[in-house]
Amino acid sequence: MPVDFKSLGLSNTKEMFKRAMEGKYAVPAYNFNNLEQLQAIITACAETKSPVIIQVSKGARSYANEILLRHMAAGAVEYARSLGSQIPICLHLDHGDSYDLCVSCIESGFSSVMIDGSAHSYEDNIALTKKVVEYARPRDVSVEGELGVLAGIEDHVSHAESKYTHPEQVEDFVGRTGVDSLAISIGTSHGAYKFKVKSQAEIPPLRFDILEEIEKRIPGFPIVLHGASSVMPEYIKMINDFGGDMAGALGVPEEQLRRAAKSAVCKINIDSDGRLAMTAVIRKYLKENPKEFDPRKYIGAARSALVEVLKHKNEMVLGSAGRY
Ligand code: G3H
Ligand code: 13P
Ligand code: ZN
Repeated sequence: MPVDFKSLGLSNTKEMFKRAMEGKYAVPAYNFNNLEQLQAIITACAETKSPVIIQVSKGARSYANEILLRHMAAGAVEYARSLGSQIPICLHLDHGDSYDLCVSCIESGFSSVMIDGSAHSYEDNIALTKKVVEYARPRDVSVEGELGVLAGIEDHVSHAESKYTHPEQVEDFVGRTGVDSLAISIGTSHGAYKFKVKSQAEIPPLRFDILEEIEKRIPGFPIVLHGASSVMPEYIKMINDFGGDMAGALGVPEEQLRRAAKSAVCKINIDSDGRLAMTAVIRKYLKENPKEFDPRKYIGAARSALVEVLKHKNEMVLGSAGRY
């Protein structure tokens, strides 16, 4: 029996993005793979009164089990309400790579899916994306498409170089597919090594000229920014200080994300920053407490750090705090 996302108390992205566009902020899209990440996301977003998109990648589904993740997401709504929060929560498939995967997520209660056809030719991307929209639309599930290719690893597809989105294609793509939002490539990439430069000061700016050109061609249309972790230097230092080796890890400076959030960018995807904060704190905790063997202690410490990181993102970077 298909599960309607509304019966789980979840929201699609329509109202979220409308309000984000009007209020000139971006809705955070945070990935989760386990209980503690989900707890941290909901706690941080409830405490800062921020709408939130909790997203599940194909990798997360195979790591944590799709059934468990979806029940956790349904539980997350109840958990937020128990904290006295009315924030909207969207359950989203991140980087869906096939029609069948999108259908399976929609049938199991996801309120939004991404169909990432960016590895295909332009026409094949359109055909695949349109097919997913045709399935999702009657069920009121939102669909995110992607045009352009991000450098780095997109699940199992690796790309040596990013191919920026061609602004002249966006109108045709959005019109022919019927997507609700569009992920674009303007210089971000996934993971902790986003730029091949030596220092923070040398990080090249994102291609805001391409973003502006896209906004002119599809005014008021929700844009999505993937690969938007800042790779916070304090956590890279903590990792390196406590036995790790992440030399050269660099991300997107916060001021550039703030600028993007004020534009048509309505959804900002952040995964790596949470992973880095948790790893750093766990490394430090275990080094400083060599006799400790209760996972609740070190994962709990990591969860607390994650709450603070996400609150900072909502308040100081995305501008999504205090909106609900
Ligand atoms: O875009 C990729 C996300 O960070 C998810 O990563 O495929 O390792 O779960 P993952
Ligand atoms: P980061 O690796 O920069 O956190 O990007 C995450 C992402 O885009 C998930 O889809
Ligand atoms: Zn992504």
